[in-house]
Formats: sequence, C-alpha cells, structure tokens
Amino acid sequence: FIMTDSLLLNAISWAREAGAVHLRYFRGNQLEIKSKFNDSDIVTAADKAAEKLIIDHIKSTYPHHSILSEESGLENHDSEYRWVIDPLDGTTNFSQGLPQFSVSIGIEHNGVTEIGVVYAAYLNELFHAIRGRGAYMNGELVKVSGKARLDQCVVATGFPVDKDRNPDNNVDNLTRVLPHVRGMRRLGSAAIDLCYVGAGFLDGYWELNLHQWDVSAGLLFVEEAGGSYTHFRTDRNVSVLAGTPAIHDQLLPMLSTEAATK
Ligand code: IPD
Ligand code: CA
Ligand code: CA
Repeated sequence: FIMTDSLLLNAISWAREAGAVHLRYFRGNQLEIKSKFNDSDIVTAADKAAEKLIIDHIKSTYPHHSILSEESGLENHDSEYRWVIDPLDGTTNFSQGLPQFSVSIGIEHNGVTEIGVVYAAYLNELFHAIRGRGAYMNGELVKVSGKARLDQCVVATGFPVDKDRNPDNNVDNLTRVLPHVRGMRRLGSAAIDLCYVGAGFLDGYWELNLHQWDVSAGLLFVEEAGGSYTHFRTDRNVSVLAGTPAIHDQLLPMLSTEAATK
C-alpha cells in the first residue's frame, strides 16, 4: 500500500491546489476564453494554469511517470504509471460563472486505474477512490443510491461538441429515456456526473464522445461505490453509461450503439 498511499495523498493535495487556481479565476475578468474545436469547445487561462501546476508537481516528484492531460496531450515515458488528467472539467460552466466544475486525476498502473480523485472546488466536494478500498466524498465512504425503478430516478447526460453539424448528437437517446425518468439533468462536468452517481445523488448517467481524462477517475469512483458501467459504443471516442446496477441494466438497451442519422 505504501506507493499507493503516497500517490493518493499527492493526487489529493495537487487537486486541491488546482481547485484553488480555479477559484482565483472563477467569475473574474482574466479568463481569456478561447475556442478549440469550435465555439462549443473552449479553454481558459484557468485550464492552462491548473494543468501546469499539476504537471510540474508530477514531473518533479515522479519524473519517470507518463502523463496524459487534456491541454498538453501525452508525455509517454514507457512507465508502469500513467497520470490521466483533466485540469478543468466543466469549462463551459466555469466560463459562465456556474459552479459545477472540477479537476479530475486518475492514476493508472499497468493500464488499470488504481486511484481516482475529483475535486469540485467551488462546491467544496472532494471525491476519491482507490481500487479495492472504496469511494469517499470528503472523507466519508459513499455508495450508489441502489434505486431500481427508472420512474423514481434522476439521470444526467451531456451533448457532444460537434452537435452543430453531426446529427449523432445524443438527442435520439434522450428522446427514448426522458419519458421514463423522474428527471433529466445536464450538469456539465462528466467527472462530477460520475462521482454523483457513485455518491447516490444521481441514479444514472450516460454520455458519448468523451475522452479518457473526463472519465478516468470517475469510472473507478462508480465501480468502488458499487455501481455498474459500460462503454456502450466504440465509434465515438469514449462513450459511457454508469448507474446503480439495476438502472444501468435498464438504460443500456435504450441507448443507440451506432450513429444516429437524424
Ligand atoms: C466537458 C464536460 C462536459 C461534457 C463535454 C466535455 P471540458 O469537458 O465534461 O460535461 O459534456 O463533452 O468535453 O471540455 O469542460 O473539460
Ligand atoms: Ca472534460
Ligand atoms: Ca477540461
């Protein structure tokens, strides 16, 4: 456990530092919002500052570890260890002054995520999971809600950044699921969505066209909280469904496994 524990403690303290960076920029006038893929895909000065902080820490403490981070890409050192980082998940919310944003850090050992940390600074919610040792919110063990009836469930989703010109935009799935649930939400941070499934605040969540840094920590969190998840299609980057075991099983057949054309 010794290596795992020091990795976890470092990941938590660096996530908290990144969260402090978020708060320095949040609702301020130094955001420097720039478009990436299109105007639905943006990056701010806070994304870059948080990323630099985390990567600098990793490089000085674990110089041989590989790093995959959203804004800098892959730095491969052929290490057993790889850090998978989203320095600011929920940048659209962040840029609007909406509080659902987070930093997500997953640590893989030989390709398997062993540690996941998600910190939502404005909400003061710290989620962490260690493989085989449970899922914790602000230090307390959490579990999925255990709900089994879809009509009593609140479920979240999200919409892909190419929704303007690709008809495969998740509206097909939404149309199928919406009538059957108590409520649908679009919270805007995939990492928070997954942790909220683990903590029992959401009963299910799905989204297509995500990336590894969005889900690395969150999927371990769901698993350690007793939830189920599936990569429900393979043709749109990372596409995941997560939920209580029963709700996961009910939602899975309702999601398209190939591209919608209208
Ligand atoms: C985004 C958020 C959002 C999801 C997008 C992601 P970003 O991440 O997780 O909830 O719908 O697909 O790209 O760009 O804010 O790091
Ligand atoms: Ca993200
Ligand atoms: Ca991001």
